[in-house]
Amino acid sequence: MCGIVGYVGEKNAQEVILAGLHRLEYRGYDSAGLATVRENDLTCTRCVGKLGSLEGALRQCPHTGHVGIGHTRWATHGTPNETNAHPHLDGPGDIAVVHNGIIENFQELRRKLEDGGVSFRSETDTEVLPHLIHAHYEGDLFEAVKKALREVRGAYALGVVCRHEPDLLVAARKGSPLIVGLGDGEAFIASDVPAIMQFTREVIYLEEGDLCTIKRDGCAIQDLEGNERSHITATVDWDETTAEKEDYPHYMLKEIHQQPDVIRHQLLTYVDKQTGQVRLPDLGLDEVALCDISRIVIVACGTAWHAGMVGKYLIEGFARVPVEVELASEFRYGNRVLGPNDLVVPVTQSGETADTLEAIRIARQEGASVMGVVNVVGSSIAREADGVIYTEAGPEIGVASTKAYTSQISALVLFAIQLARTRRTISGEAARGLLKHLWDIPGKLTHYLESCETVRRVAEKPRYLKARNAMFIGRGYNYPSSMEGALKLKEISYIHVEGYAAGEMKHGPIALVTSELPVVCIAVQGQVYEKVVSNIQEIRARDGITLAIATEGDDLIREHSDDVLYVPDCYEPFSPILVAAPLQLLAYYIADGLGRDVDQPRNLAKSVTVE
Ligand code: F6R
Repeated sequence: MCGIVGYVGEKNAQEVILAGLHRLEYRGYDSAGLATVRENDLTCTRCVGKLGSLEGALRQCPHTGHVGIGHTRWATHGTPNETNAHPHLDGPGDIAVVHNGIIENFQELRRKLEDGGVSFRSETDTEVLPHLIHAHYEGDLFEAVKKALREVRGAYALGVVCRHEPDLLVAARKGSPLIVGLGDGEAFIASDVPAIMQFTREVIYLEEGDLCTIKRDGCAIQDLEGNERSHITATVDWDETTAEKEDYPHYMLKEIHQQPDVIRHQLLTYVDKQTGQVRLPDLGLDEVALCDISRIVIVACGTAWHAGMVGKYLIEGFARVPVEVELASEFRYGNRVLGPNDLVVPVTQSGETADTLEAIRIARQEGASVMGVVNVVGSSIAREADGVIYTEAGPEIGVASTKAYTSQISALVLFAIQLARTRRTISGEAARGLLKHLWDIPGKLTHYLESCETVRRVAEKPRYLKARNAMFIGRGYNYPSSMEGALKLKEISYIHVEGYAAGEMKHGPIALVTSELPVVCIAVQGQVYEKVVSNIQEIRARDGITLAIATEGDDLIREHSDDVLYVPDCYEPFSPILVAAPLQLLAYYIADGLGRDVDQPRNLAKSVTVE
């Protein structure tokens, strides 16, 4: 949530920062702004709305400085307007700050500053920072930021510039992600790698409590007590197109189509070619630890939580270990009972989701081990967990999660197989059989995605496009798919949609069925197929509109459904990966048909770094 970019170098800072902010707009798009410094002059431009508004304003009055900071905002404190947009300035306009996170004691700090005669312009928590830094400034920005941060409680990723020190950028990180990029005679800060990938591949992932000075010739890092800290520079090996839309109209569509490659790549990474066995090198759990696990608790939010729900079926099915799946936001305030034989598994694309991060901190305090299923390398959750399986999905830019979801499920399949083999709940031959089924998935997905026009034709029917409400139902392995299908459609189309376990219909939800209600019924072949078909018939008997997601070759289902979307036949436990594709495409085409902003739906942002 909120994207930060900063630059020090020879180039025009405005151009570098805007290019970076474009790559971070998925993190927030309520307002945007930038501040640059040139020859003891600080210029700041801010605009409400998306980055386009800021670009328009900068075309009128361009900045010429070579040092600067920029921000794209998802509003927490204060409505999205120009006054609340970042960067925020101190009273005289000498110091500018961009901030991602929440300053918890901002009210107390604000009162203190106001008592000292400071006037505030905005309603934001961030504005206390430039005033506080100003109060400590005695000609050394780094020292002033350090002293100010000692008074602050909360989470922050910060970029600070000052007109009296025109060659310097100061950055700090606590609780919100921030990286430093090192180039030839130039340096960058950013919330995420894609923002600076076009300029450099050499990055430092800042650690909790880092405070650094960034100049053209590099950066120096300390903690708030003034102790030097050293960090390893990592090289990012993504290719340039990874963060581009390429020929797709939206990132979401590109990312849907990337899914076969993502799963193939994951399998190539984690299945040993010679032995055909799963190898999870960073699991952080040896054989004894895997055998000692008495319970697994998966913690996650949103789509990742749905992947976790599929994970429960897989792990319990293959490895026979009891699994609970908790919303991280509930887990952190619940009456948890955790112990040393519990394994807590955060599932997260960003690796920065505030609730999931807090959940694992609690789990570790209470003695449980933590093994994360994480996409973003070097993210907070990946670093704080005892072990990690990287999902290897590459950057996901569309706000609605697609490839991250299916890659989370396939990573959980691999973990379940590894756990099951170690605990001898399945034989080597059975494990090889499971992996063979998993290897079949990318090809089947590719085949399916070639015919995505079929989904578009269904999605564009008025009965779906004009629906005010909709329902998704599924059972067994595909109960989580129904929840995910519903979330996908509601978040990008703004249609009111709910996902239910099909067997629950008669316990309440069926009362909602009318001739105007589309019900998407996941009815692929498997042990619950006939049960779901009965549910479809019950809906039809009440005039509901039924759209079945069924297995190719199932001609009978046409008799019970207004529309059918067929997916290739597959091993039932892995069907949620295949079923995700029509659900994602259905949401995509309905939302696009309604003219919604598919990649940047209203009120949302990716990477929810505040509670
Ligand atoms: C929905 C979506 C969100 C995320 C959730 C968790 O399409 O993307 O529900 O799944 O915010 O995010 P991560 O996986 O980054 O922890």
